[in-house]
Amino acid sequence: MTAPPGEAVIDVADLAKTYRTPFTRRRVEALRGVTFQVRRGEIFGFLGPNGAGKTTTIRILMGLISATAGTAKILGNPVPSRQARARLGFLPEQPYFYDYLTVGELLDLAGRLFGLDAATRKRRADELIAKVGLDRARTQALKKFSKGMMQRAGLAQALINDPDLVVFDEPMSGLDPIGRKEVRDLILELRDAGKTVFFSSHILSDVESVSDRVAIVIRGQIQAVGSPRELAGQTLLGVDVTLRLDDPHGAAADEIAARGDRVRRGDRELSLTVAADVDVDELLAFARERGARVVVVAPRHDTLEDLFVKSALASDGGTAAGAAVTEGP
Ligand SMILES: Nc1ncnc2c1ncn2[C@@H]1O[C@H](COP(=O)(O)OP(=O)(O)OP(=O)(O)O)[C@@H](O)[C@H]1O
Ligand SMILES: [Mg+2]
Repeated sequence: MTAPPGEAVIDVADLAKTYRTPFTRRRVEALRGVTFQVRRGEIFGFLGPNGAGKTTTIRILMGLISATAGTAKILGNPVPSRQARARLGFLPEQPYFYDYLTVGELLDLAGRLFGLDAATRKRRADELIAKVGLDRARTQALKKFSKGMMQRAGLAQALINDPDLVVFDEPMSGLDPIGRKEVRDLILELRDAGKTVFFSSHILSDVESVSDRVAIVIRGQIQAVGSPRELAGQTLLGVDVTLRLDDPHGAAADEIAARGDRVRRGDRELSLTVAADVDVDELLAFARERGARVVVVAPRHDTLEDLFVKSALASDGGTAAGAAVTEGP
């Protein structure tokens, strides 16, 4: 069951989730009106600090818990739905597998749950075990696997039904830099094979480098959605100016340096950063009058990291970025 072209593969509107802890009667507002759409064929990164509501959103999408309010659709079907589940691959945040199984047995079991016949199960399992690089560990029980191997077994398990949409909750967590790169490459491969990938992470660089679009979620609310390039570079932070001067430590250099900050002096060069609202033409004329030649003038835009950190700080006065907690019924 595939969604018609142009229709969102994931469509979440005004999603809210309030957890109630049974004994203390605390209310945790994990999601407070989350809206976003994931388009067919894109890699969509769901980025947010710990406790922001990523896993909660994913568990609602997977039909594991119900939302307090709002709607969630996968491939055009309201969740939970059997039609959507059949075209979906899922890697949970902390996968728990029967650890006496081998990876081949794990994949066979996953294939059975999707009703695949024995030949298809065998073929897909062989392909996937090779794809995630677990060939040499085929005969080992999962309980002997390292964290990285376990994560790769989980990724293979999520792909057994050749899904149109894959949802990975923190697929890079606990992996070393090589493992993270392998997961990024796998995500790109899946996209190139025509699949839609939705994955969460609290690590900006993991999301930034592969995602076509990103949603930043903080304290149960979406702070921004867009391509990493759109989201970054929205604000001009300043202009970097590099000048050539006979004496970058002389009086003329000092006069120029006084007009900016982050001053760096090299052998024959003076670099400084001026604020975004400074008249750069006027500054350059001022510098030329003092014998400087212009080498580089470059705008400095904010990065996705700036946005991420700024949003996290703005939403909670600079402390925790987790959910809103209130006492009482
Ligand atoms: N079953 C639950 N009962 C009560 N509160 C919960 C429950 N599950 C999650 N929470 C709370 O809801 C908020 C959102 O949690 P969630 O697991 O969705 O965050 P996350 O973005 O996935 O964080 P992480 O990066 O740590 O995985 C947190 O404050 C968390 O403590
Ligand atoms: Mg989580």
